[in-house]
Amino acid sequence: MRVTMIGSGYVGLVSGACFADFGHEVTCVDLDQAKIDGLKRGVMPIFEPGLDDLVARNVEAGRLTFTTELAPAVKDAAVVFIAVGTPSRRGDGHADLTYVYEAARQIGQAVTGFTVIVDKSTVPVGTGDEVERILKEANPNADISVASNPEFLREGSAIGDFKRPDRIVVGVEDDRAKDVMEELYRPLYLNVAPLVFTGRRTAELIKYAANAFLATKITFINEIADLCEKVGANVQEVARGIGLDNRIGSKFLHAGPGFGGSCFPKDTRALVRTGRDYGAPIKIVEMVEEVNEARKLAMAERIIAASGGDVSGKRIAVLGLAFKPNTDDMREAPSLAIVPALEKAGATVAAFDPEAMEQAKPLLPNVVYADDAYSAIKDADALVILTEWDQFRALDLARVKATLKAPIVVDLRNVYRPDDMAQRGFTYSGIGAAG
Ligand code: UDX
Repeated sequence: MRVTMIGSGYVGLVSGACFADFGHEVTCVDLDQAKIDGLKRGVMPIFEPGLDDLVARNVEAGRLTFTTELAPAVKDAAVVFIAVGTPSRRGDGHADLTYVYEAARQIGQAVTGFTVIVDKSTVPVGTGDEVERILKEANPNADISVASNPEFLREGSAIGDFKRPDRIVVGVEDDRAKDVMEELYRPLYLNVAPLVFTGRRTAELIKYAANAFLATKITFINEIADLCEKVGANVQEVARGIGLDNRIGSKFLHAGPGFGGSCFPKDTRALVRTGRDYGAPIKIVEMVEEVNEARKLAMAERIIAASGGDVSGKRIAVLGLAFKPNTDDMREAPSLAIVPALEKAGATVAAFDPEAMEQAKPLLPNVVYADDAYSAIKDADALVILTEWDQFRALDLARVKATLKAPIVVDLRNVYRPDDMAQRGFTYSGIGAAG
């Protein structure tokens, strides 16, 4: 089947490469000439484990190609995905759909024969209707059907998530589109995942509801963590104790410094906007947004308190800047709130992140960037673990202790065990356990 991806960012590139791996003939389109040139040479625009091999394998097999020319790529495709960015619009939190609509207009002008146009970008309810209107306006004779197929890929494990999803959600308005989408996903759903067919608007809402629910789950356990600290309970054990109940489920119950990333903050904001616009406010999600923002700043306060109440003139080592491990993505990372707050309080922050430092430099220009974890720690008055990269889970603790000026560790991801750290002579604080 011929598949075209408009937008070769995170979602478009991973999805395109995975569809090619299933045997489809995929063309990935992007406006960015440098990105396309790079991809043709095997240079990935993002860091995602396994992506370079996946792309190389499929390029070599002739199933995956890259181009900046939209029209020829769309002309003979059976399915055209719109996988362009939908950032938060400045000011009102709405998703900015400029790129989606522009893609729709250009696709409309280029399609020939029956084509299913699929929104993969995360778009507010009703966007599929508008995409359909734009396509028909651009080409009144176009034989098209518009579908919604939201993605649920996590950065850092996107390929596995694509190939072994819990479910595939497809919103269609007619059987022709349903048949095409069924054929497209045949390699997957036969063996692995249920294919959930529903209406287009419902599919659009499923994406937002899923992300908002997960963000709520994280925020819930974060607040329980705060309570644990006050009452002398342990949040990891609470999470296990509640998570074994199948109705709750054990995932997304890790307390931490607050959620970040390219999806949860943006999607919760957009859902809040949609709820308000339609007079059906989602108050619980409004609160999640507020609590999560406050939490990031509260983390800076926690670090200052752990450092004796004053960080002025002190050096704080921060391990991990990306919003989560296995990505170089800095979007809405808790570090972007925590580090400036520490600097404002007079601290010098020395940091190391295995992948995100180039992205971090323009955003956090005053940080002293170190070449590895131990150089960041050198002579620091406290160590903060901010992102749980595997390499920070197995630090040589004797060396850490000898390298730090003061043996203070603030572990915002609960990577280490409090009793073990105390025994090794650290003044240790994690999240959600009484100190
Ligand atoms: C998320 C969704 O999981 C994915 O389905 C959707 O398509 C895109 O958004 P992603 O942003 O890549 O994926 O990362 P995810 O692993 O979900 O983590 C998001 C944030 O929540 C991170 O900041 C992470 O540190 C935080 N988190 C996650 C927690 O604090 N605790 C948890 O238990 C889980």
